[in-house]
Amino acid sequence: MSSTRIGQSGYRAEMDDAERASRDEIIALQTKRMAWSLAHAYANVRHYNQAFDRAGVHPSDFRRLSDLAKFPFTVKTDLRDNYPFNMFAVPREKLVRVHASSGTTGRPIVVGYTQGDIDMWSEVMARSIRAAGGRTGMIMHNAYGYGLFTGGLGAHYGAERLGCTVVPVSGGMTERQVQLINDFKPDIITVTPSYMLAILDEFKRQNIDPRQSSLKLGIFGAEPWTNAMRAEIEQAFDMDATDIYGLSEVIGPGVAQECVETKDGLHIWEDHFYPEVIDPETGQVLPDGEKGELVFTSLTKEAFPIVRYRTRDLTRLLPGTARPGMRRMEKVTGRSDDMIILRGVNVFPTQIEEALLATEWCGGHFVIELTREGRMDQMAVLAESRPEHWDGSGLLVHAEKVSAFIKNTIGISARVGIVAPDTLERSLGKAKRVYDKRPKG
Ligand code: DLL
Repeated sequence: MSSTRIGQSGYRAEMDDAERASRDEIIALQTKRMAWSLAHAYANVRHYNQAFDRAGVHPSDFRRLSDLAKFPFTVKTDLRDNYPFNMFAVPREKLVRVHASSGTTGRPIVVGYTQGDIDMWSEVMARSIRAAGGRTGMIMHNAYGYGLFTGGLGAHYGAERLGCTVVPVSGGMTERQVQLINDFKPDIITVTPSYMLAILDEFKRQNIDPRQSSLKLGIFGAEPWTNAMRAEIEQAFDMDATDIYGLSEVIGPGVAQECVETKDGLHIWEDHFYPEVIDPETGQVLPDGEKGELVFTSLTKEAFPIVRYRTRDLTRLLPGTARPGMRRMEKVTGRSDDMIILRGVNVFPTQIEEALLATEWCGGHFVIELTREGRMDQMAVLAESRPEHWDGSGLLVHAEKVSAFIKNTIGISARVGIVAPDTLERSLGKAKRVYDKRPKG
């Protein structure tokens, strides 16, 4: 296991005021900012004006944080229906940038930023990189995609704000990624965990020992990944790997970040983003500690205020540790949209990832295929063998073992097929894990 290479002391001295604030101070700040944000959304965005009126609430009904439960949720279709610019609370000329989330079908979701929003985002991203162990003067290799996706530019501005030297590589051209890591000797890498595995393969292909690379810190997010994957990457590169969370609708990356000294879930930067966890069926707010759907309200955003946005991400809220004033969210194990329901049993791709990484022979490349035979849904897991285990023998036994493990731990029957190294398609950003080939309807 790798150890934290940055000394355990000295973290506090580096923190900003909000990170040092007590829980009570954060709550007081949130209450003040929430009142502003609700009034701002109501006064300047037609959608919120109408939605609040329909729900019979007014921003003046908000006095304490528990009053937020009276306000209506916002869902993805609300944003889609207001494509492209109708959710903005400032005149279009005040926007210095837009981003858009890809969306698998139909119109993308467009989000916008004033200069003030970009400054705030840079602050929370700088804070995230610092919480991951990053420091002024370090070199950061940024392999999150640049463009409409928020990952590349979000991480980029945060690193500049912290005073790092940014290498804006973006995703793709994996051979060159490895060359640049070797030549520029970055301390930090920011990339999706699935693409980090592709970079790892390339190190091996070029016969370069990844443990000898300069990389000390990895800041991985934009998709679900497990602690088993963390162990895999930390071991392979001899680095500290932490989790970063965010979504375009709320700001981009930098909504929550795991602290390197504890690696115990992600601290939500609650001075800017107010979290709730709700029961996805009833919409009831759940007490901290209970698992449900994460909902966010922005507290300081000017161009694109967001009120009670249902993320579809499943997690629970936990008390702060390394930053006691701000709550943590448990690692997101999946989105309600990614949940596979197979013959009545709920399965997330992360559970399959865990089962595969518990073996010796699989390094974490896998896909799940869903088909229908007769009336029965079938799940097949195609998992790639590590090159050193690909000798053609014993693989059937391995596959049967994983299949039995999945049956015992998750409770479903899945066919497991082991495929040759380097046969599954590599993602350059977010991995596509599930191929649903079942007839529609
Ligand atoms: O993925 C922002 C981001 C970029 C986060 C780089 C971290 C690093 P979207 O493309 O809008 O934004 O996708 C947001 O991705 O609702 C989650 O389902 C998923 N997601 C993001 N971070 C994590 C994470 C960016 N750490 C959606 N763990 C979110 C699990 C994550 N899922």
